[in-house]
Parts: sequence; structure tokens; C-alpha cells
Amino acid sequence: TTVEWEAESYDMGGHDTYMHKEIAEQAEAVDRVLRGRIDDRFATVRLGGLNLDAREARTMRRVKILGCGSAYHAGQIGAQLIEELARIPADAEPASEFRYRNAVVDPDTLYIAVSQSGETYDTLAAVQELKRKGARVLGVVNVVGSAIARETDGGVYVHAGPEVCVVSTKCFTNTAVAFALLALHLGRIRDLSVSDGKRIIEGLRKLPGQIAEILADEQRIAKLAADFADAKSMMFVGRVRGYPVAKEASLKLKEVSYIHAEAYPASELKHGPLALIEPATPTVAIIPDDDLLEKNRATLEEIKARSGRILAVAHSEQEKADDTIVVPRNEPELDPVLMGIPLQLLAYHTALALGRDIDKPRNLAKSVTVE
Ligand code: G6P
Repeated sequence: TTVEWEAESYDMGGHDTYMHKEIAEQAEAVDRVLRGRIDDRFATVRLGGLNLDAREARTMRRVKILGCGSAYHAGQIGAQLIEELARIPADAEPASEFRYRNAVVDPDTLYIAVSQSGETYDTLAAVQELKRKGARVLGVVNVVGSAIARETDGGVYVHAGPEVCVVSTKCFTNTAVAFALLALHLGRIRDLSVSDGKRIIEGLRKLPGQIAEILADEQRIAKLAADFADAKSMMFVGRVRGYPVAKEASLKLKEVSYIHAEAYPASELKHGPLALIEPATPTVAIIPDDDLLEKNRATLEEIKARSGRILAVAHSEQEKADDTIVVPRNEPELDPVLMGIPLQLLAYHTALALGRDIDKPRNLAKSVTVE
């Protein structure tokens, strides 16, 4: 039994599609995932349903995150946040791969299942297999009372509200923020300092306003999208924090526009995909102003040398790019949350220009509850 959301949250509220409505709702959605959870006194967050005591948080040696589609990509952002803020080795894997490869189940690993619906069969089956083997499994789930929420030992609700469009937007963003909360919580129990805790909290509080700022730039992104509508194929690249953002942006574009897209770590371009770069294959580069900025600029040069068109998502105009979408600065750890948002709009407007069935792309379902 799942808890029903208010009927009015299903109203399209003047938007032409649920996708557009859900993209537009993200400032409030992020506000909701933060609400009531920040603990300024201890520079941490309180997560009521986590069900993980401080001793367990200190003794776990590894975190393994499992999910499918956009949930898996949000989990990759989560794994990086947990490594950065809590210094616990962490990685994410598609739940379906995990369950079929007879993975080693380790008693000192915390497993986390990520799912919007809480009903995705592959993710649920991974949870059940882990539970049967005695593992500790938490959920990062949107739908309250869903199967994965019930079968896990505890977790963090994402509070994105109902997501109707088949492709995930606000839930992806809120899941990334939920992981930032979890990473901060674990970090402050392990060895994240009070001042770093405060720094992340300040960053979290800035997110809703900054999301609104990004969304205000929609008309410009719509114009850029018109140029991409006739691309046969697109490349998305990023390094470290930018890489899961590139993967999610590539998935989003494929799902709604049916344009072929690939995502690569920028550093891997030279090991093969650079062969694809030519004027008809534009690249979207996610390049935050972090310690990898110079490396990323060198990648832009490599692409430019093959006359590839470049759209950068960055904190300042990039000389080598044909166009730059400038996003507001926050704490570097939180960059992935903001940098994905303009690319949701890019996917949406590209699909709109191509006349696609945006809320119900061909061949796809909102939740895949069968094998
Ligand atoms: C389907 C949807 C994707 C979604 C994935 C996982 O494939 O088309 O958009 O990311 O399932 O769904 P979940 O509900 O587990 O997050």
C-alpha cells in the first residue's frame, strides 16, 4: 500500500507537459527534502527514518549503492558525496548487474537501494537477495510505503512529490540532495569537521534559490536546443563530479528526443570516442570550476581541433566553447546538483522542437515492475 499524494499535485498547473511542470518545481522540491532536517547546533542533519546508529556509521567499511536508470546515476553522485564528505569507499552499480553477478556480500558494507517508485523489480530483487544474505540495506526512495521502502531496514525519503513524466527530473535532483544529507550525516559522525559541516549546510540552503536562477534562463536554453534538434548523435563529457551529470544528461536526451547520445569521462575521449567528433556530433561538456578545470579546458581544445561544436555547462564563460550555460557557484561537492538542471531543459526543448511525446516516450515505462 502506497500513500496517496494530494490530488492537486497531479494538476498540470498551466504547463504543457508533466516534464516541464516537474522541472519547474525543483526549487520547492529541494526545499522539501531539506525541511526539518538541518541541525545547525551540531553542523549536521537529522534523518529520522535512517535507522543506523553512530556506532554502525563509524564501523562500516564500504558503501554500495544500487539502482536503475536515473536512480543509478543519482546513486553515482551519492557515492562520490559519501567518499568526499565521509571518506568511506563507495560506489554505485546498476541493481540488475549486481543481482545477476552473484556479488560478494560483505558484512561491513552498507547497501543502499535507490528508487523513485520504490517498485522497480531489479532493485527490489537486489534488496531481497541482500536481506536474505543478512546484509544491512537502506533505501533512498521517493514513494512512501513502496515495496523497497518496506523491505529495507530504514533510509531517507526523497520528498520530491509525485513524478508523473516517465523520465525523471525533480526526483533525480532531490535524490542527489538526499545523498548530500546522508553524506553530511555520516561525515559528521566520522571525521568531517564542524566548519566543513557548516560550509555544506550553507551550500544546501542556497540550492533552492540557485535552482530558480537556472530555471529563469530557460528561454536561452530553448534557443540552444533548437540547434541540437538536427544532431544525429551527441557526446556528453565530464570528469569526476561532472561525469554522472554527463551520464544523466545523455540518458535524458535519448529518452525524450530519441537522439543518440553517449556519455564519457572527458579523460577517456582520447581512448576511442574522439574518432566520432566532427561538426555533426556536438559535445556538451560539464566543467565546474574545481581543481579539474584546466584538464577540462584541455579537453575542449581537443574537441575544437576536430571542429566539434561545444556547449559548456560551467561557472564562467568558456572561451573554447561555442556556447556556455553559466550556473551559479556553490560548494564544489554540490555542483552536480545544479549542473544537471539546465540539461534537463535542453533535453525537454530538443524533444519539443522534434515534436516528441515528451511525457510518454516510446518503448519506456515509468516503473519497470517485471523482470
Ligand atoms: C524506468 C524509468 C526510468 C527510471 C528507472 C528506475 O526505466 O523509465 O526513468 O529511472 O525506471 O526507476 P525507479 O522508480 O526505480 O527510480
